[in-house]
Amino acid sequence: MVNQEKENRFRKFFVTPDLKLAKKRGKEDVKVLQFEEIPEELRTIGRGKHYLIQTYGCQMNVHDSEVIAGILEQMGYSPTEEETQADIILINTCAVRENAEDKVFGSLGRLKQLKVEKPELILGVCGCMSQEESVVNRILRRYQHVDLIFGTHNIHRLPYLLQNALFSKEMVVEVWSKEGDVVENMPKVRQDGLRAWVNIMYGCDKFCTYCIVPYTRGKERSRRPEDVLQEVRDLARQGYQEVTLLGQNVNAYGKDFADLDYRFADLMDDVRKIGIPRVRFTTSHPRDFDDRLIEVLAKRGNLVEHIHLPVQSGSSRILKLMARKYDRESYLDLVRRIRQAIPDVVLTTDIIVGFPNETEEEFQETLSLVKEVEFDSAFTFIYSPREGTPAAKMKDNIPMEEKRDRLQRLNQLVSDISRKKNEALRGQVVEVLVEGESKKDSHVLAGRTRTNKLVHFKGPKNLIGQFVQVRIDNPKTWTLEGEWVDQQVHSQVGV
Ligand code: 5AD
Ligand code: SF4
Repeated sequence: MVNQEKENRFRKFFVTPDLKLAKKRGKEDVKVLQFEEIPEELRTIGRGKHYLIQTYGCQMNVHDSEVIAGILEQMGYSPTEEETQADIILINTCAVRENAEDKVFGSLGRLKQLKVEKPELILGVCGCMSQEESVVNRILRRYQHVDLIFGTHNIHRLPYLLQNALFSKEMVVEVWSKEGDVVENMPKVRQDGLRAWVNIMYGCDKFCTYCIVPYTRGKERSRRPEDVLQEVRDLARQGYQEVTLLGQNVNAYGKDFADLDYRFADLMDDVRKIGIPRVRFTTSHPRDFDDRLIEVLAKRGNLVEHIHLPVQSGSSRILKLMARKYDRESYLDLVRRIRQAIPDVVLTTDIIVGFPNETEEEFQETLSLVKEVEFDSAFTFIYSPREGTPAAKMKDNIPMEEKRDRLQRLNQLVSDISRKKNEALRGQVVEVLVEGESKKDSHVLAGRTRTNKLVHFKGPKNLIGQFVQVRIDNPKTWTLEGEWVDQQVHSQVGV
């Protein structure tokens, strides 16, 4: 474990979160620490026992769950999909919107019965919700069957927290409000053998006024380039076909290096040279998306032509209130510059409707921006007030009914455009990385294009894990259906 662990191991396991403290951004340098081996006596704790992790939210959480699984497996636990078979259930939570939080409380309520039937079950809550004091207080008051709460900054302490939860009658709560350092070499059990997530940075300093993430994930801390590049090299060696570089705002990568002038464009250029077949990244903030990055992405090759570029709103007034630090025109200008360099780029986005006092005209500006940019798809949300954020204090006179209506109108437009974009692929042959069987029909294979579109087609199972050529015969709104044509393509070129 990390160096200060020995003393930490014995301290009291009751530290609750504080959002005000989480907001502070200290000037001190971030240290890179190494995850030290889990002590021998904790390596057998889970022998013959099973773990289950329920994950909500973004890819960052999905990847954190892979780290948590890695730690649990080093402690001897094996995975299970069955709640009734599990000896430990961890809920990795998301705090970005209220409905995500409601689902977690629903799940906790439901698991109470299981805990009654199996008192030795360890039930834990981690992730972004754990970083909120209101959530922790609610769990302490109303969900006393929970055994363990830890946050996003102290995942590496799980062996000790779990040991304590197993042997203590009290609820173990340890949430650090201030981000920790960057801990390298954490164990990981990746859920997919083809596509891997790679963290390049943690935290966010953007403080968009609606967003809780800068409070739950702490200040921006970049991983050192050599550590990221080494991880990608290892993944390439292990046969991974795709990596997605992860950060809340990847375009801020490297800003926190005091000794190094090395930014996201440099990292992409270096990752590109490793030669893993596909490289993606998410999420990028339009504000820091610079021409140097566009230049690197335009080299293409394994850098795929898909950019997720959250716009949030098409109205400059609302963008200002959101503190997004760009306006409608500069976003559109960025899109123009990207399209000039990468004409066939696929753009996707995130949009919030019903921000406090958004007028119908301002909403119309969002619709017109969506029409102008023609995103291939978009994640759309109704604004959800998050306690502790500046927007939550704004008076809001837009009724929920109106917000729902806007969301519906926006979704209609987004799906019309998606359908049109997919229709344009009819008859075209696209490269697909075959992921596995289709979820709905095991006779059908599923895979993704470079632009991350889901493709279904018939073919032998041994294509799983390979790149194949598929002709799109039946484009739908959200997926594409086609025919596997490698042999035809090969015979045409005489192979
Ligand atoms: N309400 C609604 N949507 C939100 N998002 C972030 N915070 C909120 C909120 N308070 C959305 C943004 C972001 C995506 C991950 O979630 O669109 O890009
Ligand atoms: Fe939230 Fe804005 Fe940071 Fe994205 S950039 S995580 S929306 S504060």
